[in-house]
Amino acid sequence: MNRIIPVASGKGGVGKSFLTVNLGVTLARMGKTVILVDLDLGGSNLHTFLGIRNTSSGIGNYLNKQCGSLEELIIPTDVDRLYFIPGDGLFTGAAQPHYFQKMKIIKELPSLVADYILLDLGAGTGNNIVDYYIPFSEGLIVTVPETTAILNAYSFLKSALSRSIFRSFPPHSEEREIVRNFFKERLEGSGESLEALAGKLSAINPSGSQSVRELIEGFYPGVIINMGRSATDRTLGSRLRSISRKNLGIEMQYLGYVEWMPGVSRSITGRRPYCLDNSDNLTKSLEGICRRLENMGPGGRIPSFEGDGDLDSLNWKETL
Ligand SMILES: Nc1ncnc2c1ncn2[C@@H]1O[C@H](COP(=O)(O)OP(=O)(O)OP(=O)(O)O)[C@@H](O)[C@H]1O
Ligand SMILES: [Mg+2]
Repeated sequence: MNRIIPVASGKGGVGKSFLTVNLGVTLARMGKTVILVDLDLGGSNLHTFLGIRNTSSGIGNYLNKQCGSLEELIIPTDVDRLYFIPGDGLFTGAAQPHYFQKMKIIKELPSLVADYILLDLGAGTGNNIVDYYIPFSEGLIVTVPETTAILNAYSFLKSALSRSIFRSFPPHSEEREIVRNFFKERLEGSGESLEALAGKLSAINPSGSQSVRELIEGFYPGVIINMGRSATDRTLGSRLRSISRKNLGIEMQYLGYVEWMPGVSRSITGRRPYCLDNSDNLTKSLEGICRRLENMGPGGRIPSFEGDGDLDSLNWKETL
């Protein structure tokens, strides 16, 4: 069974596509079969990171019914075991697909034969991005050491969780109304956690309230801090983690810290994945992140990391 890992950020330009490609290359070099999917519809550019010309059909063609299955779209890359499904570079206008079209993609992904399927998502917190994130428990959230990026990452997680809870109830139900009002009225820092929402729901639907608790518990994103330049930048993952825990009641794990490296933009201009030609700290960080992904148990949790109060220091102690 494949593992499907969406890569999101909230803020744009933080390195989602760069990391998606290079994590894919790293996993493939570890012997895994990987499919990269460009789901940044309206801004598809993953092919350029891979040095692939924009001539093959992709998700845009699929959404416009020019091909029958995602499998038909898979093309090889220059890296052994690494495959690619292009976005909508050839057939644009698919950035606002209907919900059922998104569900069609999401339902078909698990049938693709691979160890890992990495989904490169667009920037922002809109439903057209969030909907590709919430069906999978192992989503990554990439951010950079800037307050705006951390806040945007938090906003993304909040949108994802609220959408996930909202969609868990039937259309036009009273429960959906309660969820919508809760997120509309709730002020950050008011101290009203999602536990309060579960309480409100339990009055009309005890099993619905239980399923909200389960949704919150099952939501377990992995954070990557990219483009770090100083020791203090490493601690920012814990800031995101603490506001998410305090305001949303969710746990997350700090998967890794990736340094800013001057050679990255050269590798992108040269259309060749960075870690193919470099064995520096950046490449080693990616190997560490991939090893952590590999070590994860069901539901995206790393067993040995569970219950540890200080994920940050634990992560950095781990040998890369
Ligand atoms: N670790 C890094 N060191 C140096 N530069 C980096 C690093 N990671 C990413 N970059 C730079 O950041 C730029 C943006 O990266 P990328 O396109 O992957 O971001 P993105 O989050 O996918 O953006 P978008 O939201 O527009 O899709 C790249 O041009 C790259 O040069
Ligand atoms: Mg991108």
